[in-house]
Amino acid sequence: MSTVTCVAPVNIAVVKYWGKRDETLILPVNDSISATLDTEQQCAKTTVMASPNFKEDCIWLNGQKEDIRNPRLQNCLAEFRKRAGNISHIGQWKIHICSENNFPTAAGLASSAAGYACLVAALAKLYNIEGDISSIARVGSGSACRSVLGGFVKWCMGSLSDGTDSIIKQIVPATHWPEMRVLILVVDKGKKKVPSSIGMKRTMETSDLIKHRIKHVVPDRVNKMEQAIIKKDFKTFAEHTMKDSNQMHAVCLDSYPPVIYMNEISYALIDLVHLYNEAVNDTKVAYTFDAGPNATLYLLEENVPEFVGVLDYFFPPLENTLVEYRKGLPIEAVTPSQSLLNKINVEQQSPGRLKYILYTKIGDGPKILEDSKYHLLNKEGFPI
Ligand code: DP6
Repeated sequence: MSTVTCVAPVNIAVVKYWGKRDETLILPVNDSISATLDTEQQCAKTTVMASPNFKEDCIWLNGQKEDIRNPRLQNCLAEFRKRAGNISHIGQWKIHICSENNFPTAAGLASSAAGYACLVAALAKLYNIEGDISSIARVGSGSACRSVLGGFVKWCMGSLSDGTDSIIKQIVPATHWPEMRVLILVVDKGKKKVPSSIGMKRTMETSDLIKHRIKHVVPDRVNKMEQAIIKKDFKTFAEHTMKDSNQMHAVCLDSYPPVIYMNEISYALIDLVHLYNEAVNDTKVAYTFDAGPNATLYLLEENVPEFVGVLDYFFPPLENTLVEYRKGLPIEAVTPSQSLLNKINVEQQSPGRLKYILYTKIGDGPKILEDSKYHLLNKEGFPI
């Protein structure tokens, strides 16, 4: 019997992956760039166990037994068993997998990215497989390949049909830009309406705008974004982050039937960020949205107290809920001046429009948890 437990991070793209050139190998139509978030605040945790006594492969996700025949999961397992075949007898044994997220699943909060990155990191340790595992995470979920490394990560689309040049590289480690902070504003905890894989397929089949995006916008944007990150140029970083999110949602809307992820609260948040930046005469906050209505904001640590004060004013939490409302790192919000509030000409929302906010920072890649107290499976191989 052999057991491994691992945690892996979420990543949030600042240049989005949207569209595949190969549906099975999960190869993208453009390069993308993301930041890996700290596992202390948000992570997937997975235990994998191999035993000659197990009758069949099994998986439990967030306490529920799920179908092991999921094709993407099968692709990952097959690749590991192929690689492990020559090295280890464990490759012949059946496995049990137990995984949980400490944040809502499939709500456009990168849960599949963290989940697959965690699974492959745990299986790599179990089967003692060295070298790049991002390509195995990728066949689970495209964006998962970027969660295999920490800091800021670039996924190069590659051009070969076998996908061998579709690889990730770390632009800088988490320590390069220690002032960078992330606020995740949860508008809706429910499952997303259109899964990203379906949404991006529809975009590839029906959108004209996507052709312009991948040919004329992303190549230059990726270079500028990489340079902005290396130089810690927040203004350029923020501008491209916001424009790229807007363009991803524009190609979604250009799909037919349109793929709609944002809602009126998302749009109100976009307005607030632009009006705040205008009021302070600087670009201090950037928003980005994935396949759902929740916003991720990038901002520097020094600007968090004032911006959260502004957010609390325009998007007030429900009364007496502050403890559950603020998750992650502690925040000391400051009450914004009346003159600043006057300059931000946006409607004050009714309390409770945001479900909660999670404050976090950039972090490292997956980690093995050596101590057996962290295992999610008991000695018999069943969820604890
Ligand atoms: C909107 O990685 O979930 O988050 O490869 O089909 O599993 P599949 O899609 P997925 O797509 C995520 C897209 C995005 C943007 C991004 O993370 O770059």
